[in-house]
Amino acid sequence: MAFALCLPQISLSGEGAIEELVRQMANKPARRPLIVTEQALMGLGLLDGLIGQLRDQGFSPVVFDGVLANPTDKVANAAMAAWQAGDCDALVGFGGGSAMDTAKAVRALVANPDKTIYDFEGIGKVAKVGPFMACISTTSGTAAEVTSNAVITDTRRKVKMVIIDPALIPDIAVNDPSLMTGLPASVTAATGMDALTHAIEAYVSIGAHPLTDHSALAAIKVIAQYLPQAVDQGKDLVAREMMAHGQFLAGMAFNSAGLGYVHSLAHQPGATHNLPHGVCNAILLPVVCEFNLPVKEARFADIAVAMGVDTQSMSQAAAAKAAIQAIRDLSARVGIPAGLSALGVVQEDLPGWVPAAEADPCSGCAPRVASQAELLALYQAAF
Ligand SMILES: [Fe+2]
Repeated sequence: MAFALCLPQISLSGEGAIEELVRQMANKPARRPLIVTEQALMGLGLLDGLIGQLRDQGFSPVVFDGVLANPTDKVANAAMAAWQAGDCDALVGFGGGSAMDTAKAVRALVANPDKTIYDFEGIGKVAKVGPFMACISTTSGTAAEVTSNAVITDTRRKVKMVIIDPALIPDIAVNDPSLMTGLPASVTAATGMDALTHAIEAYVSIGAHPLTDHSALAAIKVIAQYLPQAVDQGKDLVAREMMAHGQFLAGMAFNSAGLGYVHSLAHQPGATHNLPHGVCNAILLPVVCEFNLPVKEARFADIAVAMGVDTQSMSQAAAAKAAIQAIRDLSARVGIPAGLSALGVVQEDLPGWVPAAEADPCSGCAPRVASQAELLALYQAAF
C-alpha cells in the first residue's frame, strides 16, 4: 500500500524565522505581497517587524486586516477584493488558522477566476495552485501553515465548508515563537487542545500510516508536557517553542492521515454560534475517544504512554481508558469548560447539526462509523 506525506516545500521554525522568510522571499520575483491578517494583531504591532523588513528588501506589501474568527465567505471575498485592488502578486497569511485559511481561500480564487469560494468545498476541488504563499502562525494549534485544509463558513447555509486540496499547502511555513508570547492564556489553551485533537484523531484515523504515526505520538507527548506551562507562563519562550513544534508535528500527521468525528462535530457549533474551534474540539475529544475506544484500544494505550501515564502495571484496556482520563485532566487543567452548554449551546441546537457533521469531509477518516443517532448521542454526551 502506498503512503502519502504532504508537506510545505520549506518550514522555518524558531526565533529569527521571520527574517529568514524575508530573505527567501527576496529571491522570488513577487514584490507586492498581500498580507492577510487580523486587525487585533496589527494593533498589537505584531506585524511591524515583518512589514519593515519587507520594505527594507524592496517589497511593497499590502495589508488586508479584515479577518475574523471562523472566517466567512464574505471575509474571503473581501480579501480577494483587496488582492485585486492592490494588484498583488504573492500571499502571506499571518495569524491563527482564520488568517491563514483566508489567505488560502484567496490563493484558490486567484488561481481559478471562473470559480467562487463555494465551488472549492470538499476534497480536491481547487484544480490550479495559485501564487506563492507563505503562512506565518502566531498560535500553536491549527497547523494551517502546514496543511492542505481551509475552513470557510458559508453564511447562507450556516455551515463550515471544509476545503481540502494540496494546492492550498503553503510554499513556506513559519513558526517563530517570539510572535506567540503575547497570546492570551485562553487562546493558548484552546489552540493547544486543537493541536492535541489533531494528533489524536490522526493517530486513530483510518488514514494513519507509519509516516504519520511517529509525528502524531511525538506531538501528543510534547503538547501534554508543555501546554500547561505555555498557558501559565505565556512569556516562557521554551514552552512556546515546544508547543510550536508539537502543533507542527500534529499538522504533519493529520495533513496526511486525516481527522475524524471530533472535527466534524466541532465544525457545526463553530459555524452556527461562532464558537472557538479549539474549545469545541477539546470538549468533544474525550467523548469521541470513548466512542472509538472499542476499535482502537491498542492505539489509545499508546496515547496514554505519550501523555505521560505510567501504564506498566495496567492491562491494555485500562491503559486505553487512562488515555481518555488524561485528556479530560489536561483539558480541565488548562481551563476548558466541561460541556457545550457552558458555551451557550442549548439542547435544541443539537439535532440540526447532525446531518452537516455526518457530511463533513473529516468524517471519512473516522475509525468507527457512527449512525446519525450515534452522532446525536455524542453531541448529548458533550453537552
Ligand atoms: Fe482543528
